[in-house]
Amino acid sequence: MQTNKMQITETIYYAGVNDTTIDLFEGQYRVPAGISYNSYVIMDEKIAVMDTADQRKTTEWMENLNEILGDRTPDYLIVSHMEPDHSAGVALLAAAYPGMKLVGNAKTFQMISQFFGTDYSDRAVIVAEGEKLSLGKHILSFYMAPMVHWPEVMVTYEETEKILFSADGFGKFGALDEEDPWSIANPETEWDPEARRYYLNIVGKYGMQVQALLKKAAGLEIIKICPLHGPILQENLQHYLEKYNAWSSYEPEQKGVLVAYASIYGNTKKAAEEVAEQLKAAGTECVEIRDLARSDMAEVLGQAFRLDRMVLAAPTYDGGIYPVMEEFLTHLKSKSYQKRAVALVENGTWAPMTGRLMRAKLEEMKNITVCEQVVSIRSAMTATNKQEIGKCIEWLQQNIL
Ligand SMILES: Cc1cc2nc3c(=O)[nH]c(=O)nc-3n(C[C@H](O)[C@H](O)[C@H](O)COP(=O)(O)O)c2cc1C
Ligand SMILES: [Fe+2]
Ligand SMILES: [Fe+2]
Repeated sequence: MQTNKMQITETIYYAGVNDTTIDLFEGQYRVPAGISYNSYVIMDEKIAVMDTADQRKTTEWMENLNEILGDRTPDYLIVSHMEPDHSAGVALLAAAYPGMKLVGNAKTFQMISQFFGTDYSDRAVIVAEGEKLSLGKHILSFYMAPMVHWPEVMVTYEETEKILFSADGFGKFGALDEEDPWSIANPETEWDPEARRYYLNIVGKYGMQVQALLKKAAGLEIIKICPLHGPILQENLQHYLEKYNAWSSYEPEQKGVLVAYASIYGNTKKAAEEVAEQLKAAGTECVEIRDLARSDMAEVLGQAFRLDRMVLAAPTYDGGIYPVMEEFLTHLKSKSYQKRAVALVENGTWAPMTGRLMRAKLEEMKNITVCEQVVSIRSAMTATNKQEIGKCIEWLQQNIL
């Protein structure tokens, strides 16, 4: 990526931008490797620009676009998603090219009007499910993908080159590699972790809607997927589709146990480490241990979905659950954590009650089986607690999904 302008096919260009200085994406997600706001241009008899960019980068995005356009002008701006990380440049582009039409669905234009104070009614092309738009050789079909992850989201399939412009779907945290933006030598290490963290935290709640979109996609012959964040996908498409199928159906990716804990003075931490050791000794396929206060909670949430079982360990705090654990449980519920087996470790010096309280939170979720035996620690772990841990692990071994 010597310049930010990149060619994807003979007639399709990348006009997107990297953002490597943003502190938190969507106001809460750590992105140590940055993020890209992707935008594409299809050059044909008619020219279509696919989405814009975040306001932090609209100047750079416009420069890329102008370089691609040369002396031509865009005929259409396709607005697949009105979230501001992709739509900040809508008014800017509309002002620069008064002859350009804006393409979206009815909901898109309601939102355009909310964000920009006009719905561009004189140049709005309102499309519905399955509708087509010809650019010449390229023919775009629009498919509605409500709640993946806003209500107005639609994806665009270009049938001549067999490309799916998938909106936020199949996106990933992390800026694009300047030298080799599309290369994914090993999807499992280079794509999965940050795509998982992105998907489960940002879209995770809407599994049913993603399943519906995957069914529509299954009816299309797709050679490339062009998402709004991260690399375009053009090899091993089956791998990415399988991941999306697992995540959106809330199925674990592999057998294993996440041990997520919080600790004030270190005693619950010791118990969590004991849990992890006993799990390994029992031959558990994969054991991940995380201190909730010191980890990226979005990453821990991703691990909870990746694995089929979980152990939660936390002290009692002001008669309640230690705050960072309560927060974790809130995130799990909001992302529809389900179909898992969970064991609990509680701690308290005068009235331990996190076990009961964590169980109540888990019971609000769908299809969560909670181990009857709670490891109840009074300040520091005892030999009896170690035996209780052993019983929980036996139970976890019997509850492999
Ligand atoms: C602000 C604060 C509030 C606490 N509230 C309770 C409580 O309501 N009930 C209880 O049994 N222990 C309470 N504790 C004590 C801890 O839960 C207890 O010491 C526990 O063993 C700490 O585990 P740790 O060593 O993993 O930090 C509280 C501690 C602090 C600092
Ligand atoms: Fe979005
Ligand atoms: Fe986005």
